[in-house]
Amino acid sequence: MKSEILRLLKENDTYLSGQQICDHFQVSRTAVWKVIEQLKKEGYQIEAVRNKGYRLVDSPDVMSKAEIESLMKTRWAGKKVVYYDETDSTNNRAKDAGEKGEEHGTLFVADRQVAGKGRRGRSWESPAGTSIYMTILLHPDMLPSKAPRLTLLMALAVAEGIQKVTGLESQIKWPNDIVIHGRKVCGILTEMSAEIDYINYVVIGVGINVNQETFPQEIQERAVSLKAELGTNIKRSELIAATMESFEKYYEIFRKTEDLSGVRELYNSLLVNIDKEVKVLEPGHEYEAYALGINETGELIVRLQDGQEQEVYAGEVSVRGVYGYV
Ligand code: BTN
Repeated sequence: MKSEILRLLKENDTYLSGQQICDHFQVSRTAVWKVIEQLKKEGYQIEAVRNKGYRLVDSPDVMSKAEIESLMKTRWAGKKVVYYDETDSTNNRAKDAGEKGEEHGTLFVADRQVAGKGRRGRSWESPAGTSIYMTILLHPDMLPSKAPRLTLLMALAVAEGIQKVTGLESQIKWPNDIVIHGRKVCGILTEMSAEIDYINYVVIGVGINVNQETFPQEIQERAVSLKAELGTNIKRSELIAATMESFEKYYEIFRKTEDLSGVRELYNSLLVNIDKEVKVLEPGHEYEAYALGINETGELIVRLQDGQEQEVYAGEVSVRGVYGYV
């Protein structure tokens, strides 16, 4: 009920009487009062005026199940939120839940991760109070070979979410890093449990540097936060909800064809590598090529020095700028 009361307060600029809230949810005045008191303790500024009722004056950067759910405008993506003040890794939580048959679209969010994971076995620094660590659980009814495409959809969704909430324009470094002015602001880690021709579940984990002011020394040259770009704090829950709204939209476009034909043009318009010399790093082999954009199945098309075109598959490959990260 907390999420619903919050949502109602957010949707109303004027005062809502206690009676209106009671009638809406068919609960007692005491129950409403208790929820309002809890919300105040969590940091919401709620004005209570005799004979008028309650009005939400301001919500701080609160991260909670109720806050996130109250902002969610989706039908299924992130409609159900499982929230942790602290966990090992939201990808691990989502995978455990996937094993138990938790529903498609459930979103796992943490304020802090103590064993955050990056791609290729790296760790993902996940301090409390500043960033977004979230993982969506999916049960896609399609061939496992198509699952990597979902990561590209999430990259699009994050870029759009950032644009909607902050106005900042970001770009995508193929396949799934989000960058602003050449520095990484978000990483995505997709994991899957599958049989040869059947997906049990896919989890897509997203780490967004939102309000961080400092980074570990080894990444400070190529990482950035939204706050550093914008100059003000950003409400993480709003960005989570906006990203889920965009993800649901792109996922549904994707479902029609199970390829990226419906989003390819948009993806390529955001691609930081497009029309640039890149360095393709394969295990044990690296070469330079000219990036032309992605194809309908999400591979990066590059032109080699002899003029031949080639598809680069994500996975173990990484693509860099010739002189640095992008
Ligand atoms: C990368 O290396 O770029 C991918 C980073 C992915 C980090 C996110 S944070 C939420 C989710 N849980 C994890 O342990 N990792 C992902």
